[in-house]
Amino acid sequence: MKEYAQKDILITGGAGFIGSHVVRRFVETYEGYHIHNLDALTYAGNLENLRDIEAAPNYSFIKGDISDTDYINQLFSQKGFDGVIHLAAESHVDRSITDPLSFVKTNVLGTVNLLNASLDLAKRNPDFRFYHISTDEVYGALGNTGLFAETTPYAPNSPYSASKAGSDHFVRAYGETYGLPYVISNCSNNYGPNHFPEKLIPLFINNIIHNKPLPVYGDGNYTRDWLYVKDHAAAIDLVFHKGKKGETYNIGGFNEWKNIDLVRLLCQLMDAKLNRAEGSSEKLITFVKDRPGHDLRYAIDAAKIHKELGWEPSVTFEEGLDLTIDWYLKNQEWLDHVTSGDYKAYYQKQYQQ
Ligand code: NAD
Ligand code: TYD
Repeated sequence: MKEYAQKDILITGGAGFIGSHVVRRFVETYEGYHIHNLDALTYAGNLENLRDIEAAPNYSFIKGDISDTDYINQLFSQKGFDGVIHLAAESHVDRSITDPLSFVKTNVLGTVNLLNASLDLAKRNPDFRFYHISTDEVYGALGNTGLFAETTPYAPNSPYSASKAGSDHFVRAYGETYGLPYVISNCSNNYGPNHFPEKLIPLFINNIIHNKPLPVYGDGNYTRDWLYVKDHAAAIDLVFHKGKKGETYNIGGFNEWKNIDLVRLLCQLMDAKLNRAEGSSEKLITFVKDRPGHDLRYAIDAAKIHKELGWEPSVTFEEGLDLTIDWYLKNQEWLDHVTSGDYKAYYQKQYQQ
């Protein structure tokens, strides 16, 4: 068995938004770990997100698809990972409405492939652990009050959340049936650098830069609970190392915003950053047809991870948004790059009137 400090850790989806922050944190913090980043590089995966650490001696990239059963079995028998942190997924609700099957393929089949391949490794290594990164969307929608706790029953409403709920259930079932050591965390909406500009905050930042309409779904009175991505990465580090086997941890910053209020704040901040006249970005707000099955409100009760593991967010929303906007303004080349090709075609089709 390898020493504690010398572990081969597989991180899936490390070229994506959250995964890239987790990979960077692990590569920089744990010199004795070798971090293997497995990613299919879909439209959402971009190795530019990791350029600063790609030459690190304790980092390797593997291009591969988690839904390919034979490939995953072969990879696991060759590499003998000591732990898996699983983030690879199709992650955008709107895409799940138009193409649910690709969500079943990656999020459900892909997760089950990783679980199956992990069984052998767990038999040989008592320290092996499978960590599934999940979402609060599995709990469905809240009314105007209340919070999601770890005990809230699952009630997913979108094909995306149904596929994540399915994969969470498989992880739990592999723990119960085969004794696979696992841990799951369910996090609220993340924001920050490297967020693909199809999600609300980066899409709207990009559109404001280019003076394009800001498509607010329905009346905008939907609530999301926002967490800075690096605080999520810190929580993932803690849960991987200190979380109790077979437990679930909810992660969130007690930071609820109605979409329309958030969009107005973003407009004000962007006007100031771009030296535009006050109120000019707000003029871009366009109320458009609502998303089908749109969940009214998400809000996380993060008391358990705070009490048991001592985690709390390190930045306020004001600080996090400021850092995020500055990052996008400095990285417009990144924005131009990721919005070309496949995504551009999708985006054009989606918003064609
Ligand atoms: P993302 O879409 O930015 O990145 C997903 C990554 O997975 C990409 O790099 C993509 O190339 C890769 N991938 C997709 N299909 C693959 C496949 N078949 N094989 C291998 N790699 C594949 O997603 P994200 O926002 O970084 O989310 C990461 C994880 O965190 C997901 O599991 C998501 O459900 C979960 N999560 C996200 C949020 C959020 O607000 N973004 C909140 C809570 C939980
Ligand atoms: P999104 O970033 O897609 O995350 P999720 O659906 O996983 O919460 O959307 C966040 C909220 O913003 C959600 O209520 C839908 C809304 N929204 C818009 O109003 N317009 C948009 O163009 C997008 C992408 C989202």
